[in-house]
Amino acid sequence: MKAILIPEFVPDPSTLRPSDVPTPTPKADEILVRVTHCSPQHADVLHAQGKHQNNNAKRGWCFPPFILGYDFAGVVQSVPGAGGEVRKGERVFGAAIGAFAEYICVKESAVKRVPDELSNETACAMSGQAVSYAAVVNVAKVKSGETVMVSGASGGLGSVCCMVAKALGAKVIALAGDAEKAESMRKNMDVDLVIVMEADWIKQVMDFTNGQGVDAVLDNTGMVNDAIRCLAYFGRIVILGFAARKGVMEDVKMNKLLLKSATVVGYRFGESGRRYPEELQRIWDGYLGMLKTGQLTPLFYGKYKGLEDVGRALGDLADRKVYGKIVVTVADIQETARL
Ligand SMILES: NC(=O)c1ccc[n+]([C@@H]2O[C@H](COP(=O)([O-])OP(=O)(O)OC[C@H]3O[C@@H](n4cnc5c(N)ncnc54)[C@H](OP(=O)(O)O)[C@@H]3O)[C@@H](O)[C@H]2O)c1
Repeated sequence: MKAILIPEFVPDPSTLRPSDVPTPTPKADEILVRVTHCSPQHADVLHAQGKHQNNNAKRGWCFPPFILGYDFAGVVQSVPGAGGEVRKGERVFGAAIGAFAEYICVKESAVKRVPDELSNETACAMSGQAVSYAAVVNVAKVKSGETVMVSGASGGLGSVCCMVAKALGAKVIALAGDAEKAESMRKNMDVDLVIVMEADWIKQVMDFTNGQGVDAVLDNTGMVNDAIRCLAYFGRIVILGFAARKGVMEDVKMNKLLLKSATVVGYRFGESGRRYPEELQRIWDGYLGMLKTGQLTPLFYGKYKGLEDVGRALGDLADRKVYGKIVVTVADIQETARL
């Protein structure tokens, strides 16, 4: 089969092209999935470069040679023995290293059935963002009428944070890295204000909130000090990621939290799900419920077809051109597989 193999880490992932590798054979507890779509993201750029925490020589587990990629959707080709919940021919989506390939073997627990209401393309685009739903609904506990600010709002997590907050009836301020991207976001995203993070951007936040500040911040880039400056009294900050920090973490003065009675909370979706599986199921039910009723719809960026386009997608991500999600069509077979 064709796959994006990483024989060694690469400085520039846009140079990656598919190569021929053996089609994987499922282990006794694995299903084999024909990949119809994959969705490159920030973490894939880091994995390709060897800069992700999973590549850490001491604590990591992801080392060359490996097949790149994480989020995918596809059609089940085979199930183990008596089979579990998922059956041959069903459409599934999920996340597992090795997704930039024509086939992938995964444990059944790594996938979910694609609801009938959704295409594989949509399921793939949204497969990694249940974290955004949980962060807005369960952690920040956003309520109708509140004002929410989202950093990295153009990104996979950030764009869905914006959508979920809007669906809950909040006003949303989306932060953008540059003017060109901000213009695209104004056209394509349902938010109340897009602010480019230039010199006076905090003043723009305070003006929009009549000097009160925002009730909640969903921070995908690592900007807690700035978030505190924008925060209302008793405001909440949820730390989701550090996309802008280049590995250098912030120092935060604790008195600033006291002065605003601020709550700052980190949220690690994967680990939370492993520790609290019942809560995870409730999160997925809520998230898929919003997707099925169309309250959340993916924001697709560009057109990418075939594994040959994965390198271009990774380059666009690294160049920060992307808003919303990239989905690469790997095979066009999902509709015939509908049961
Ligand atoms: N907490 C969790 O459980 C969890 C789960 C998954 C991912 N994450 C983390 O959450 C963060 C966001 O993930 P994502 O998938 O949404 O990433 P993404 O799609 O690449 O989006 C990141 C956004 O951050 C902004 N950004 C600012 N400075 C950046 C920089 N130097 N490099 C790249 N982007 C920069 C970009 O918007 P502008 O260009 O407009 O500034 C970009 O749209 C990542 O750090 C990821 O590792 C956390």
